[in-house]
Amino acid sequence: IIDDLKSEINKVDNKQDFQNLKASYLGKKGKVKDLMKEISKIEPEKRKAYGQEVNKIKNQIEHIFEEKMEEIKKIEKEKKEKKNWIDVTLPGAITNRGKEHLIEKTARELIEIFTNHGFKQVEGPEVEKTWFNFDALNTPEWHPAREMQDTFYIDSDVGTLLRTHTSPVQVRTMLKEKPPLAIISPGRVFRKDEMDATHLFAFNQLEALYIDKKVSVANLKYYLESFTREFFGSKVDILLRPSYFPFTEPSFEVDLTCIACGGKGCNVCGNTGWIEVLGAGLVNPNVIKNVGLDPDEWQGFALGAGIERFAMLKYNINDIREFVKNDIRFID
Ligand code: PHE
Repeated sequence: IIDDLKSEINKVDNKQDFQNLKASYLGKKGKVKDLMKEISKIEPEKRKAYGQEVNKIKNQIEHIFEEKMEEIKKIEKEKKEKKNWIDVTLPGAITNRGKEHLIEKTARELIEIFTNHGFKQVEGPEVEKTWFNFDALNTPEWHPAREMQDTFYIDSDVGTLLRTHTSPVQVRTMLKEKPPLAIISPGRVFRKDEMDATHLFAFNQLEALYIDKKVSVANLKYYLESFTREFFGSKVDILLRPSYFPFTEPSFEVDLTCIACGGKGCNVCGNTGWIEVLGAGLVNPNVIKNVGLDPDEWQGFALGAGIERFAMLKYNINDIREFVKNDIRFID
């Protein structure tokens, strides 16, 4: 029985098997009990010796199980340690980290340039009153310029719309704060445009407004030149082309040396060497009057730049729809 046990117990390496084996030897229906029962078949005078012998065997068996228990405990402890062991030399799990979207990055770069020059960032609502978006900006109901920008109206009775540009923030700021003023306002604008490679119906602009005494086109030119050079690099020049906006006089469309060809002429700039990047001008005296200021005392310049356009030029993107497609490869 001892030899049997020794060979059987060798195969045991866990507590469950151990308990089963132990029960089969020392349990109520175990082999040792069976040996005890045999005593009735033994001649009476030999029973004492038999009993002592069985007891000896039982003690040996108990001892074997005790030793085995120690071993099992050790094995189980090692197993547990192995399971909890961390291999610090393994390469870490790769997690995909979020990235700053190019529009966000471009806006941040532009904002940084202007705030470094002392411009303060302000916000305006995307759902705007018609009065701020058009009327106060010298664009009354009958004005043909309203058709320049196809508008998403929300409630024409109340006079609410999705702002078509960031220029209403000019009005909101001038009504709220006393000049001199130097503010920028980045944000989303909306136009009923068909989507194509250069148009989205929701895009971003950066408005800048500077109001002070004796502001002239020279001041505007200085800022246009310095901020575009800071943003694109020192080699770009600006070209002011006369244009028309109801809220500025004079008004300009501002071109930049074509980044793609360095001004030599290519298919990006239609061989002109210039690329239109923003609208600007001196704040129309009517707008100054509309916010209750005296145009003889206060003048200013304003500009509105398309953030997507700046991002496309700087980062060489040829389809504006890429920005909103949410293709992770593009964002990467
Ligand atoms: N608001 C004009 C537009 O969206 C741009 C602009 C801003 C022009 C400020 C002049 C001055 O087209």
